[in-house]
This record gives sequence, structure tokens and C-alpha cells, in this order.
Amino acid sequence: MQGTEKKALDIAWVREQFPSLKLQVNGHPAAFLDGPAGTQVPKQVMDAIQDYLLNANANTYGAFLTSLRTNEMTLSARAAMADFFHCDPDEVVFGQNMTTITFALARAIGRELKPGDEIVVTTLDHDANVAPWRALEDEGAVIRQVDICEADCTLDLDDLKRKITGKTKLVAVGYASNLVGTINPVAEITKLAHAAGALMFIDAVHYAPHGPIDVKALDCDFLVCSPYKFFGPHMGTLYGKREHLQRLKPYKVRPAPNASPECWETGTQVQELIAGIAAAVDYLAELGRRCEPPVKNRREALLAAYRATKRHEMGLFARLIDGLLAIPGVRIFGITDAKRFEERCSTLSFRLGEHNPTELAAFLGERGIFTWDGNFFALNLTERLGVEKQGGVLRVGLVHYNTAEEVERLLSGLREFIGR
Ligand SMILES: Cc1ncc(COP(=O)(O)O)c(C=O)c1O
Repeated sequence: MQGTEKKALDIAWVREQFPSLKLQVNGHPAAFLDGPAGTQVPKQVMDAIQDYLLNANANTYGAFLTSLRTNEMTLSARAAMADFFHCDPDEVVFGQNMTTITFALARAIGRELKPGDEIVVTTLDHDANVAPWRALEDEGAVIRQVDICEADCTLDLDDLKRKITGKTKLVAVGYASNLVGTINPVAEITKLAHAAGALMFIDAVHYAPHGPIDVKALDCDFLVCSPYKFFGPHMGTLYGKREHLQRLKPYKVRPAPNASPECWETGTQVQELIAGIAAAVDYLAELGRRCEPPVKNRREALLAAYRATKRHEMGLFARLIDGLLAIPGVRIFGITDAKRFEERCSTLSFRLGEHNPTELAAFLGERGIFTWDGNFFALNLTERLGVEKQGGVLRVGLVHYNTAEEVERLLSGLREFIGR
């Protein structure tokens, strides 16, 4: 980074951008440690949604002002997501959420499969990257599921190598686990998939708030993520290599556009939220420009933002792990060794003795500390770890608007729970 001034994240500025962080619960400030299920939204996103509804609210392709503005807004949101993914704007598809997009894509891919063709999924993944592929069993596809290494909740790469064969047509892997925070070596897995002649599909929903995505460098065929996990509105987005988006045939109504990417966007889109997606990307870029002022363009600004947010998140995370390890009865799932933090992000799940995670989440919730309990739809994983029948785990997610004080409040809340 020669010649570039790198500043630490200005946490006061960050928190000012998120009006909802001011919420109080029973006299306590809310600590939003629930980011993995959806992050809070900066005011830039709220303003963009309001501005669209005030000045551009219409359907696309009409011959009048608000419709023309809607077309322009959609193009600029595609350009924003193209900078986010590092692809071309026509390789960006908007949809209701990742799950809906993945079911639609799987159905379209299913049209090209023959009985006996194989799809590889994993035990580490959210069910939205499993069930849509398993649905193709009805057409004769064979699903092969890769196991984990239980001790550190990483993917078992030897098992993965065994399961990718000449029959494999698609490998579906998450970029990062929404339960244990493990970051998978997706570039390496993409190479293995391609060497076998298979397509590579990456679920980056959990990774997107924590690290920069570069579909060009990864060379994956498809990658999905959901803006509501990275400070945007409740929607999903897909990157697809142009050749695949043009070749595959999505299920669609006849009068809707046949050209990609629009043929993938079933029905009327939630235009106001698409406006909000562009604003979420611009918020991150603004953050990056504040952290490394001379950045050249939006993509560079996004990379600068992630350098700063990652430093901040992992600083908090080290504190969280140290604090948790000092609490008797805490069992953390996944990587805890600081030397291996590059292999994980700042999401962590644990159990406290035999306590039910729901009871713990409710106790913390009354004190304004928002955490999640259960399986978070990573059902294969909670079953594999043997915790599904015991209520799953308690999950704490740290994103860049969280603070050291919030981590300390969580730790003292846990100590208070034990000492009742
Ligand atoms: C890793 C991961 N994949 C997929 C999903 C599903 O995303 P969506 O809610 O956009 O369908 C989630 C949601 O929690 C997730 O965490």
C-alpha cells in the first residue's frame, strides 16, 4: 500500500450512519450481535429507498419520466453490484433472496442434467445451498455430500476430492459458514471443480459483510449473496458468468424479456430495494474512501473498506474468543487458534454447559444484547455436531459497527447468567 494513507476505522462515524443502533431495550443500549441473520442499514440506504419512491416509482420500460428513471436506477445498481463482485453489469441478477434465486437457478441447471449426473454439496452449508440441489434428485441427479473435520469445523478436503469425479456436474460450496465462521478455500475448490469439468456455485451470503468478493479471481461460475447481510435491504443477488446466464433457460413468462440478465428476474422487481442495494455498495465505498483517501475508483474503495472492517472485526473477535475461553463450561465450535484466524470470520457459535441456547438468548435479549439461538438453517452441521436436538447453539456475529464495549457487555452478561 505504498503512498496510501491507511486510517483505522472511524467507529464513531460508522455508528452515526446507522440510526437504528440507537435503540434502547429495558434501559440498555441495543448491542446488535445478530448480524449473520441480517445487518442494520445505514441512512444512505433508507434515503435511497425513499428517494426512489418519491421520484422514480414505476415499472420498467415505459415511455415516461419515472419509468425511464427506474431503468437508469436498475442499470446503476447493476454497475454497483458489478463493482462489488468484480464482474460486468450484465452478469448481475437481482432476486427476492438467495434461497429463491438458488432454487430458480437449480431448476434451470436441472434442464441440462441427465440421470446419474452428480452434484456435490457440503455438511458445512446453509440448507439454501443444499435443498435446491437435492430437489434435482427428483430428475435423477445424485447428490454427494462432503463431510467436515469435526475438531475445527473445516471442510474435509480429502473427502471433497474423493467426491468430485468425472460424473460431477456442479459443486456447491459456501464461501464462509454462517454457523461457525469457517472460510472455505473456494478458489482451490473452483479449480478442482473445473478440472473435473463441473460448474462451481458459491454461496457468499455469509462472507459478503466480512471480506471482498472477486469472482474474476475466483473464476467461479455462479456466486450468490444477499444485500441484507451487508448493510442493504432484504434482497438477493446472483453473479453468473455471461456464457451460462445466456445459455441456460430459466422458467419465465413469455412476454418478459428473453435477454439475460433480465430473463432471470421473474416478475416485477422490488425496485425501491434495488435502489437501496446500490446505496449499500456506495456506503461501503464511502467508508473505504475515508479509510484510504487516495483510492482510484469504487472497486478500490470497496477493497479499502474491507481492509479496514476486517482489522476492526478481527480485533473484536480476538477479545471475544479470549473472554469466552475464560468462562467455565463454554464449548466453542470451529477455529479458536489466533494463528489460524485467516481461515475464519468474526462469527462464532458456542454452547454453555447444558443450558438451552434459547434461554441464554432470551436472558441476553432482555439486557439489550441481540444474539441468535438454534441452527440458522445450517441443519446438516448442527446434526453432524450432535447439537440439533439440544436446541443448537448460541451465535454471536461481529460486524464493523460493533464495539469492544458490546463484546464486554456480552461477556459480563454470560457471567451474570452463570452466577444466577
Ligand atoms: C450462508 C447462508 N446462505 C444462504 C442463506 C439464505 O439467504 P436468503 O435469506 O437470502 O435466502 C443464509 C441466510 O441466513 C445464509 O446465512
